[in-house]
Amino acid sequence: DWNMEDVLEEQIKHVRSMVGPDEHVICGLSGGVDSTVAAVLVHKAIGDRLHCLFVDNGLLRYQERERVMSSFRNELHLPVTCIDASENFLGKLKGVKDPERKRKIIGEEFIHVFEGFAPKVGEEVGRNPLFLVQGTLYPDVIESCPPPGSGRNHSHTIKSHHNVGGLPERMNLKLIEPLKLLFKDEVRRLGKFLNVPESFLKRHPFPGPGLAVRVLGDVTEGNALNILREVDEIFIQAIKDAGLYDSIWQAFAVFLPVRTVGVQGDQRTHANAVVLRAITSEDGMTADWYYFDHKFLIDVVSKICNQVRGVNRVCQDITSKPPATVEWE
Ligand code: XMP
Repeated sequence: DWNMEDVLEEQIKHVRSMVGPDEHVICGLSGGVDSTVAAVLVHKAIGDRLHCLFVDNGLLRYQERERVMSSFRNELHLPVTCIDASENFLGKLKGVKDPERKRKIIGEEFIHVFEGFAPKVGEEVGRNPLFLVQGTLYPDVIESCPPPGSGRNHSHTIKSHHNVGGLPERMNLKLIEPLKLLFKDEVRRLGKFLNVPESFLKRHPFPGPGLAVRVLGDVTEGNALNILREVDEIFIQAIKDAGLYDSIWQAFAVFLPVRTVGVQGDQRTHANAVVLRAITSEDGMTADWYYFDHKFLIDVVSKICNQVRGVNRVCQDITSKPPATVEWE
């Protein structure tokens, strides 16, 4: 139970001792708590010799890119470049249905984008960056890899967009991990101390592969991603309006590549089904499904069916983990 003032002071000293006076550092921002707090800390230590990258992979949520970029720039004053790589990611994902292949493709694309970013920074500032910031936490350090053959990328092996295995070695970058000794709640306290807005500190976790693990099968088929974005936004807004956001560990919608028959007005429809999932959890390793009251569910389902074209059926996932995982892929 450390004093965050001391942690901050110590880490700033440490970063300054690692990074020479004309050396540069890059950092991938995912929009999540860990990478944001890590970047703000390093920025405090070395100023604009930090160069952050936010990648739009085409798998982000409703208006997410605009929202987080505006916060990074206007509220946190971080030097951040946004690269729109959505066409690359979606192009590579076209026709791919296997969940593990989807994850692998996304991981490789992130590496490509990063490998392009470092030399661009180098050109701009006259020398190549030598360091990479990662928002690794203490549990990531102590927990071992997922069991061999489990085939899943658990949150502690791929924590966020930039935390892609093998990247520092391949690019010859030294790691800066200022949160390495902290637990999640301590990162939140440190973030609060650094004036990181609540909107970052209290955000639900979001997986590195983004909406790709929430559109089952081929993510590029039809209008699936946009439909999912609209449904997800209505669901999350309703949760916030009801004051429930902070009591839920994670909530999101899933798009099913399944069409069912419905009736809207006096029209027969043949449209997609979506799933709502909300859970409580301590660490994501086990989870319980969250119980909404009837009124909340009635309102949110009617909003979704009335406002989102292409959806005529809404299901709720009432499976805990185990036996299910949190994500559907
Ligand atoms: P699962 O689906 O494994 O999810 O029960 C547990 C927690 O981890 C998140 N998750 C991921 N996070 N990269 C990430 O950064 C991933 O590949 C990934 N897969 C799952 C998931 O959202 C949940 O919070």
